[in-house]
Amino acid sequence: NGNVGIIGAMKEEIELLRQAMQLDRVIEHAGITFLQGKLHDRDVIVCQSGVGKVNAAVCTQLLIDRFHVQAILFTGVAGALDPSMDIGDIVISRDCMQHDMDASPLGFAKGEIPYAPRSVFAADARLIEIAEQVGQARFPGRMRVGRVLSGDQFIADRAVVEKLHRDMGGSCTEMEGAAVAQVCDMNDIPFLIIRSMSDKADGSADVNFAEFTVEASRRSFNMIDGIVQAL
Ligand code: ADE
Repeated sequence: NGNVGIIGAMKEEIELLRQAMQLDRVIEHAGITFLQGKLHDRDVIVCQSGVGKVNAAVCTQLLIDRFHVQAILFTGVAGALDPSMDIGDIVISRDCMQHDMDASPLGFAKGEIPYAPRSVFAADARLIEIAEQVGQARFPGRMRVGRVLSGDQFIADRAVVEKLHRDMGGSCTEMEGAAVAQVCDMNDIPFLIIRSMSDKADGSADVNFAEFTVEASRRSFNMIDGIVQAL
């Protein structure tokens, strides 16, 4: 019954959590603001990591070391890679991988972290199960469990989308999930990434992202709210 850390990268992605939670304390570390309080009677630390894998990794390690979280949830938007998905649809992370990790000249597979114990990071089975139940109730037919591919790149190219989907098995792409996943794996902390699609990572991605980020963030918040309630 310990602390749960909840991370979003951008302001839009944590705004509704900030409004929904009962705020007890505000703490700053490494330029990141941590909001300590309660959501549905559960102790939570909500924070805005900033965009990209480094920000997400630092934020995750701080949640573990300084706030002793027992689990980490990530909420936000992503670009859809699976052609059967629409804007607004929800991805629950089965696992995460860094699509921009590439030491292939040394003979490593694309996405493989050289000399690391693993490169695909599995989300917590119980959290996945809870999220599926929440998703089935709140977003029936518009939710799936799949692979989250992360990289320090905003993808806006059909050809890249096809490669990431076909070669790496991604359901969606974003810029933080796999960093959170790797740090959680290194610390043996359970995690789950929830993403709602703001765009399809294609030629319209920039325009769609601008138009749909607030609505997709609301949908992802809705999932997180249900998950925290069910914990
Ligand atoms: N987050 C939302 N859409 C994205 C995209 N197309 N690429 C990377 N991160 C995203």
